[in-house]
Amino acid sequence: MSTRPESDSQPNPRPRTTVLTFAEKRRKGEPITMLTAYDYPTARAVDAAGIDAILVGDSLAMVVLGHPNTLSVTMDEMLHHAKAVKRGATSSLLVGDMPFMSYQADAAEAVRNAGRFLQEAGMDAVKLEGGREYVETIRHITRAGIPVQGHIGLTPQSVNALGGWRVQGRTASDARALLDDALALEDAGCFSVVLESLPYRLGSYITERLTIPTIGIGAGPGTSGQVLVIHDVLGLYDRFTPRFAKRYADLADVQARAIAAYRDEVASGQFPTREHAYAIPDEEWARFLDTPGARLAGPAEGQGR
Ligand code: KIV
Repeated sequence: MSTRPESDSQPNPRPRTTVLTFAEKRRKGEPITMLTAYDYPTARAVDAAGIDAILVGDSLAMVVLGHPNTLSVTMDEMLHHAKAVKRGATSSLLVGDMPFMSYQADAAEAVRNAGRFLQEAGMDAVKLEGGREYVETIRHITRAGIPVQGHIGLTPQSVNALGGWRVQGRTASDARALLDDALALEDAGCFSVVLESLPYRLGSYITERLTIPTIGIGAGPGTSGQVLVIHDVLGLYDRFTPRFAKRYADLADVQARAIAAYRDEVASGQFPTREHAYAIPDEEWARFLDTPGARLAGPAEGQGR
């Protein structure tokens, strides 16, 4: 593993994305790009690629921590990963995802937990799931100067109430309810809204009705931007792959091959060779062997391969 001196910070080739950049892109009709990240190296890669925003999503629970859904991840676990992401990103807008039970019980607790994302982890904004029922909570958070991204449609924290991972808004009344939720979130002061797993016509329609940007995930091509879970993009999670998750690489396969090659080379003695080892000057080695009790009984001490 290479080690980098602390001063070797990343070059900063682009200005920081802010919530104003989101609004500007929406106004100009430029697609907004967003991906999740949960650690320092991934945040570095996503940031360096010029992705507008990084979501430290509660999908962390599933794709990194191995839980069956997003309900078990805690505020402290989210903060731990958000801090690592912050250390890797210089330009992307950083959004901390409010985990289950960090905002549902009461508005004061929601404000405190949202504040922790900014104060302790250096996030720029928070995201929370839910529609009209969270308007008051969102008003409290935005009044504290914390930008909020809404999230409606398939809201994974409500997977039990929704009866599973199902596409939302497929009936006229459900579609109408989602539109009303989206309008209420805009009115409450959200700077953008994530639309997850809903019909593409509804995704476009809600986008046209709002003045704030919509970020789609399984909401078709007509939203103001797109977000995906990085493990789906890289092919690193195969327990559950929704239809909308396009895989751009198969890193699980690359990883499996590399691990197997390492295993085989160590087992066969091919690794490590001197190419991956450190030398000591001959005279120092000789002096070392001359120290009391250092000489082995065998003929060739320290000759190695
Ligand atoms: O947690 C997450 O990754 C999310 C995205 C799917 C939007 O909320």
